[in-house]
Amino acid sequence: MIEQGAVAFVTGAGSGIGRETALAFSRAGCRVAVTDIDMAAAGETAAAIADGQVLPLKLDVTSEAEVIAAFEAVLSRWGRVDHLFNNAGIRGQACEAHEMSEAEFRRVLDLNVTGAFLCQREALRTMYTAGRGTIVNMASIMGFTTGPGALQYTTSKHAVIGMTKAAAFEAAPRGVRVNAVAPGTTETPLMLAHAGDVQTMRDRYTPAYPMGRLGRPEEIADAVIWLSGSASSFVTGHTLAIDGGYLLR
Ligand code: NAI
Repeated sequence: MIEQGAVAFVTGAGSGIGRETALAFSRAGCRVAVTDIDMAAAGETAAAIADGQVLPLKLDVTSEAEVIAAFEAVLSRWGRVDHLFNNAGIRGQACEAHEMSEAEFRRVLDLNVTGAFLCQREALRTMYTAGRGTIVNMASIMGFTTGPGALQYTTSKHAVIGMTKAAAFEAAPRGVRVNAVAPGTTETPLMLAHAGDVQTMRDRYTPAYPMGRLGRPEEIADAVIWLSGSASSFVTGHTLAIDGGYLLR
């Protein structure tokens, strides 16, 4: 249950999980700021929102100036930001810890952690003024565990879970909830690029999933909508794994 006409702000909304969640927010009755570093992709997602109110914006979340400007643009258009889905992120190159360059480590941390921090900060500022709001940060099963060649990604997603707890603790008395989602391998362009093609992706990752399949972007979107709505009104600081049983192994 999401308030009709509420404003949702989605980062990395041009593709994959962000795109599906922007569509889901619109179906739930929200006005949606569809932001992405790739303006053409943001425009495509916005075009897929047929009859809803939508604002496509170019936003590189690693730029403090762009993050501030994007929130200002949404506030000037609609006067409020009720829900942030802090989704933009990259996996990085598969590389063992002892061989990883400083540049690669910084690149992934800069986007997955600092970018999420900046968007969360701007959202908290406007939500504190309003005395209400929800934030869902994008973690991963790699925020709980790890895998080969993923030190930078693992580090970043563990950090997102910590950031979620720290913000939730401060935000709770101010009427703002902060949670995270931790998907297992989900069939998106990010994972396709990582694996090469669909069959390689499925062959490589499916054996680790007790459900015998990978996730779908809409299954993550459903969880984000639940964590953003009144159905989860007593939930904060939580990271929800959506992983087909991966973490049970
Ligand atoms: P995707 O690659 O399909 O979409 C990511 C979007 O983020 C793209 O539209 C891209 O243009 C945008 N983006 C890249 N850099 C950006 C930046 N600096 N500023 C703003 N936008 C930027 O990826 P997917 O799979 O939908 O992933 C989204 C999030 O979900 C990421 O944070 C990822 O770590 C996380 N995740 C994905 C999983 C998967 O298996 N696909 C599993 C667990 C977490």
